[in-house]
Amino acid sequence: MVRLHVNGQEKQVDADPATPILWVLRDKLGLTGTKFGCGAGLCGACTVHLDGQPTRGCVTSLATVAGHELTTVEAVTGGQDPVGSAIHAAWVRHDVAQCGYCQAGQIMTATAFLKGLPQGHLPSGVEIDAAMAGNLCRCGSYGRIRAAVADAAATLA
Ligand code: FES
Ligand code: FES
Repeated sequence: MVRLHVNGQEKQVDADPATPILWVLRDKLGLTGTKFGCGAGLCGACTVHLDGQPTRGCVTSLATVAGHELTTVEAVTGGQDPVGSAIHAAWVRHDVAQCGYCQAGQIMTATAFLKGLPQGHLPSGVEIDAAMAGNLCRCGSYGRIRAAVADAAATLA
């Protein structure tokens, strides 16, 4: 059994410590908001926060996250996280999602980005694009993502 902190709760998981956390979240804990895309750390669909930092769940083992705080899209968009809520609302206003497959990962990266900005800083499009560059969208929603992140930053400022 491996003990985990997920979304503010302690969990015990019976799994091989080498198991990627993506599969622990989805198959053991029922947190299916985190998606499988490439499985190789290349697309960002599986992004979660590990101690607040965007982390790729498909290439991060259960052993790595034990003893650390793991946060998933369910917590970020569940209404308890002001930055996540601002991002979520901006995503809806800008109708960002197309097929939706990449979107949980996009939201996790965007939320971590805004949390890391100095208070009141309004990021430029270049800053937003740089922060989001590791999250791929096969539907090409990048322009709407950029607008929604800027909108959320303005809301929070
Ligand atoms: S599924 Fe993890 S980076 Fe693509
Ligand atoms: S909305 Fe379809 S992959 Fe991004």
